[in-house]
Amino acid sequence: MRIDVVTIFPGYFDALELSLMGKARDRGLIDLHVHDLRESAHDKHRTVDDTPTGGGAGMVMKPEPWGQAIDGILADAQSAPAAEPLIIFPSPAGDVFTQAMARELATEDHLVFGCGRYEGIDQRVFDEYAERGRVRLVSIGDYVLNGGEVASIAMIEAIGRLLPGVVGNPDSLVEESHESGLLEYPSYTKPAEWRGRRVPDVLLSGNHAAIDAWRHEQSVERTRRVRPDLLGD
Ligand code: ADE
Repeated sequence: MRIDVVTIFPGYFDALELSLMGKARDRGLIDLHVHDLRESAHDKHRTVDDTPTGGGAGMVMKPEPWGQAIDGILADAQSAPAAEPLIIFPSPAGDVFTQAMARELATEDHLVFGCGRYEGIDQRVFDEYAERGRVRLVSIGDYVLNGGEVASIAMIEAIGRLLPGVVGNPDSLVEESHESGLLEYPSYTKPAEWRGRRVPDVLLSGNHAAIDAWRHEQSVERTRRVRPDLLGD
């Protein structure tokens, strides 16, 4: 999968050089390109924001640098034989990102993340690219971040780990929280006793049917307690 990111803080995305995402990039499974929006701003101070038209607090990101940056990515994409890119603008005003959305986005060939800052991006940028192609506003939850960078990293990690070959043992993807609509059961490893706390006997029993039943029960109980909304309760 090709992923382009437009941001005024490219350094945030250094985190994607680490761990599984870094390995996936080294192995060519994820082709990540991070673009500094300021390189598409041409005044002396490389200005990317201005005051809101009509008044109000804060600053709004100007359309011209965004236009140049995204046009450049789309022109580059046109020369490659991949499907039409999907442009995602992280925004607290967007559709809520879920595991189901991560699965859906993991089937795309090319994602472009546009990271807004300040009070947001001039609306005409969304309108321009929605008219020319596919655009989604996506929120990672009901709270406000300072910009789209952290939200993009969260989405890239959630999507990237679903790509074939990224996670070594694909079985580990199946039993996770949210994949079955339930939260994950508690996990234990050795030693069988630590600070007087014993691993539940059933997990040491070797009886796999009993272990599966216990884990399912734990998942249901945890989901009912922590996230009853997932059960429709
Ligand atoms: N930008 C600021 N807050 C955000 C959120 N909750 N989700 C996605 N992008 C954001």
